[in-house]
Formats: sequence, C-alpha cells, structure tokens
Amino acid sequence: MSIRKALPGDEKALAALHGAIFAQGWSAQSFDAFLRDAAILVLSHGAPADGFIVLRMAAGEAEILTLGVLPSARGKGLAKALVRAAAGHAAARNCKDLYLEVGIENKAARALYEGLGFVQVGRRNAYYPRPGQPAEDALVLKCAPSDLGNAHGFD
Ligand SMILES: CC(C)(COP(=O)(O)OP(=O)(O)OC[C@H]1O[C@@H](n2cnc3c(N)ncnc32)[C@H](O)[C@@H]1OP(=O)(O)O)[C@@H](O)C(=O)NCCC(=O)NCCS
Repeated sequence: MSIRKALPGDEKALAALHGAIFAQGWSAQSFDAFLRDAAILVLSHGAPADGFIVLRMAAGEAEILTLGVLPSARGKGLAKALVRAAAGHAAARNCKDLYLEVGIENKAARALYEGLGFVQVGRRNAYYPRPGQPAEDALVLKCAPSDLGNAHGFD
C-alpha cells in the first residue's frame, strides 16, 4: 500500500475515481479547485488509485471534505490508512482539531470514524439531499489529529 499527495494533472483520474465511488460525481474542474485549496491524498493498493481523501486546513483546524475507497478494495483497512495519513498531514501543519460530516445512515463510515476515536459534536438536519426521499441528517464529528495521525508529511 502506498499513499501520495495528488498533483496538478490528476484531476481527470480523481473525477473518475470519485464517480466510481459516489452516485453524484464531482467534475475534473472541482478537483482542479481542490488541488489548489485543499490537500488530496491518493492510496494505491494494486490499482493506481484505490481510494482518496480530501482535506482542507485553515486557522489551525482541518476538515475532511470527502473520503472514498473503490468497492472492490473495501474491507482491507484502506480508509483507515487514508484517515490516519490525513490526520498526520493536519497535525504536521499544527491543526489542533479535525472535523468531518457523515450521513447518519452511513453505517460503514460511522463505524470507521468511531473506531478511530472521533466523537460527535453536532448534527445538521436534512443536510444531504437525496432524490425521491427526505434529505439525510449529517453528524459532525471531531478528533485531535495528533491522536491518530501517522508520521506522513506529504509536502
Ligand atoms: C466508508 C468507506 C470509506 C470505508 O472504506 P474501507 O476501506 O472499506 O474501510 P476500512 O477497511 O478501512 O474499515 C475500517 C473500519 O470501518 C468500519 N467499516 C468499514 N466497512 C464497513 C461496513 N461495510 N460495515 C460496517 N463497518 C464498516 C469498520 O469499523 C472497519 O474496522 P474493522 O475492519 O476493524 O472492523 C467505504 O465504504 C466507502 O468508500 N464508502 C462510500 C463513500 C463514503 O461513504 N465515504 C464516507 C463519506 S463521510
């Protein structure tokens, strides 16, 4: 398994990866903006890109904007490795808190974050729109990145 920081030129591959994981895909243009304003880590475990995480940092706080692993690569600890790598990246940049939002019905992601030590600090009602059904509430979770980050700096 290897994790690297995404670079300019990765936008189309990131959009394709996102589209293979999420029902509502993000465009290459969106990833172009994230490459300028956020850190994107890409995990390879056999395929060139099996998963990714997008991390935004500002004023001593970090936020995981999205995280995903290809269906064929799930259940192998790859998401756990990506969250730890992102936490290490944030801790190395003096971020004291790491936040994220997760759909209340997303059992896999909630178990992932709870297992890593995130705690609930808020709830956003009807946060994620869903075609044909009521919008899903989101939980706001938080942890101290230094508690779970590894040594990666990803400069
Ligand atoms: C959520 C997701 C990222 C997990 O990826 P993954 O690589 O399979 O997760 P890992 O193998 O690292 O699992 C880590 C922990 O997550 C939890 N978990 C993962 N998949 C699970 C599942 N299907 N059911 C219940 N718990 C699950 C477990 O606690 C697991 O720890 P364990 O292996 O010690 O039991 C993946 O399912 C995914 O990409 N889902 C679609 C996108 C998404 O929902 N992203 C999260 C947005 S907030």
